[in-house]
Amino acid sequence: MTAPERIHRFTWGERALHWLLAGTFVVMLATGLLLSVPALTPLTSRPAAKAWHLGAAWVLAAGTLLLVLAHGRRLLATLREMEVLDRQDLRWLRGIPARLRGLGAAPPQGRFNAGQKLNTAVTAGLMVVAYLTGILMWLGERDAGYRFPGTVLIHDWTMLALVVLVAGHLYMALVNPATRPALRGIVRGDVDRAWARRHHARWEESERDPFDR
Ligand code: HEM
Repeated sequence: MTAPERIHRFTWGERALHWLLAGTFVVMLATGLLLSVPALTPLTSRPAAKAWHLGAAWVLAAGTLLLVLAHGRRLLATLREMEVLDRQDLRWLRGIPARLRGLGAAPPQGRFNAGQKLNTAVTAGLMVVAYLTGILMWLGERDAGYRFPGTVLIHDWTMLALVVLVAGHLYMALVNPATRPALRGIVRGDVDRAWARRHHARWEESERDPFDR
């Protein structure tokens, strides 16, 4: 049997940014739960959980900065690709209810579909809120002037919203047979061309050798 043809999907910088986010998110979530859920707080020392929590936030911020410095042009291009919802994306979104009833097919998508673009935007927005409220909490421990009612609540609800998003994301990446082939892209950088043609036809076509079309 011949090996399936593959095409390049994610650069090393895109993959590094993704795994930096995933790794630090898991540490922040686990230590956040150890710090705030009464049933879990006896499991660890509070200062240790807090040091890991804040440490992961620093690692994510510093790592993102380093990756932007090393690979900024490409990451900016990816951001531009993701920030626009074009006509096909709107058609993709409008078609969701019908597709959930098993009716109709999704219109051809670019490298990212509208769901992925929205997931990225909402995840980034929630991370910004988590950072802003986290910084306020950190400052509030040092200066009462930075203590505002609701800061902790917003931080907790933001994390909860992220958990819901990430749970859906993990289902698509690890369980759903139709989307699971994407995992190879974020781990090794390339994906099966046949899968790309089915799920991201406009992108797959743009990646074809012009003499091959
Ligand atoms: C074990 C954990 C994770 C796995 C296996 C995983 C898997 C993946 C895969 C396969 C893709 C590429 C999708 C494609 O090629 O179309 C991706 C993209 C992405 N991941 Fe993850 N991921 C994980 C954790 C996370 C976490 C914790 C976050 C956020 C807090 C996250 C945020 C994103 C975003 C924003 C994208 C780009 C857009 C999208 O595909 O929705 N991932 N991930």
